[in-house]
Amino acid sequence: DALAMQGLQKGRLKLAAVTTTEYFIPDLLGPFARQYPGLRIDLAVENRDAVIQHLARGDVELAVMMLPPTDLALERWPFLENPLVLIAPVGHPLAQRTRLRLSQVIQEARLTREPGSGTRQATDQYLAAQGVSWPARLALGSNEAIKHAVAAGLGLAILSRHTLGPDPASQGLVELKVTGLPIRRMWHVVWRSDRSLSLPARTFLAALRQQFSETPPGREVPRHEPG
Ligand code: PGA
Repeated sequence: DALAMQGLQKGRLKLAAVTTTEYFIPDLLGPFARQYPGLRIDLAVENRDAVIQHLARGDVELAVMMLPPTDLALERWPFLENPLVLIAPVGHPLAQRTRLRLSQVIQEARLTREPGSGTRQATDQYLAAQGVSWPARLALGSNEAIKHAVAAGLGLAILSRHTLGPDPASQGLVELKVTGLPIRRMWHVVWRSDRSLSLPARTFLAALRQQFSETPPGREVPRHEPG
């Protein structure tokens, strides 16, 4: 109705998303932003811990993340795969191998995201579940910093495949073929189940559902086979 339309023409939508989503923010927001040009959209892009703070304070209605916290009353909707892959510099000797074992990889220096990062948490959980100890040599506060450090030969890292773009080699990077990898995780959109959603938030969720239900469930974006 007219009132509802007004809410979408002049309203405001506050979201938070973890940093790794910055590689597909146009996919996430584009169609919705174009459809409602009068709507003001504020998207905070921070690591997992900071996004959880926003949800806990209630200063965003929706958040996009890989690992929703279990200590907040949240609804969650998984909408896209988020494979975590091991990256090395182009030309690294291990890049020739087709079935590496984790035990071979952990001889190399490990670069990781900062504490508070969901990527780091998911990776640490995976290594622990495999019974593997691979202490971090360097912790860096952004995916891009890690990519540059790996390309420069400072070590290897596990990052979301979304960070690599369609042509990792052009950035000096290669995805290693390790048995058991990628770590298969999902992106979720989450919202507080103890609060009601505004019209802009409900409309955004509906748009996201429509957009990503058109995607086959097995889709991994972007997809590139190493080698
Ligand atoms: P992050 O993103 O590593 O930037 O926190 C991943 C996540 O938490 O989903």
